[in-house]
Amino acid sequence: MNNSVLKNIPIFADLKDEILEKIFSLMQKRLYKRNNMILMEEDVGDTLFILNQGSVKITRLSDDGREVILSILGDGDFFGEMSIFDGESRSANVIALEDSEVFVLKRGDFLDLLEKHPMIAIALLQELAIRLRRSDQQIEGLSLSDAENRIAMSIIRLAEDLGVIKLGQVIIDNLPFQQDIANMAGTSRETVSRMLKLLDGKGWIQRKGRRLIITNYDEFVKEFG
Ligand code: CMP
Repeated sequence: MNNSVLKNIPIFADLKDEILEKIFSLMQKRLYKRNNMILMEEDVGDTLFILNQGSVKITRLSDDGREVILSILGDGDFFGEMSIFDGESRSANVIALEDSEVFVLKRGDFLDLLEKHPMIAIALLQELAIRLRRSDQQIEGLSLSDAENRIAMSIIRLAEDLGVIKLGQVIIDNLPFQQDIANMAGTSRETVSRMLKLLDGKGWIQRKGRRLIITNYDEFVKEFG
């Protein structure tokens, strides 16, 4: 493995090879198995994580002990930046949804890189703006729509976060489990199961094992987004 893996990480993508090499030498590789806890809410944290391969869910527990999924991150995404910037404890749990490979960077090294290479900071801010927009949409969706609509909206978020678009279709390999989709949408697993069957029956989606295909993504977003 060499520094070329960093070219697939959006916040580093535009940097020159020698800078990538420097960054690569500062990072430590870690592997997590599916369901492993990577970060725990309330823990003290001073490291940034870059997800080279895999997917993770960002969760918090509601007062009555239910898991609420705030977001799902995939290949090339980063997490752990919030504690670095505000000095508070970890804001959420981060749990591997599948076997995942991450790179870890120490706070001091990361802040140093941001100072020396403002392009990284700009890319990071762009991503944070996207995340804030999504959270705004999620708040709106959770308060306004019914369970069916919330599930469809969660599928759109999964398509954005984990899907690959091809000829108007979006393919999501390794679809999270129905309970995870329920925890994103604030509903029960049974309702998710019913809704997926309904969408399947109407031709909006196709399912094969853990793969889900949205047959016409633009139309799906028009209908449910
Ligand atoms: P930190 O608070 O250090 O640890 C938990 C991480 O989860 C946090 O940094 C962010 O990287 C990530 N996180 C928290 N909330 C969200 C969210 N709404 N969307 C995406 N990522 C989040």
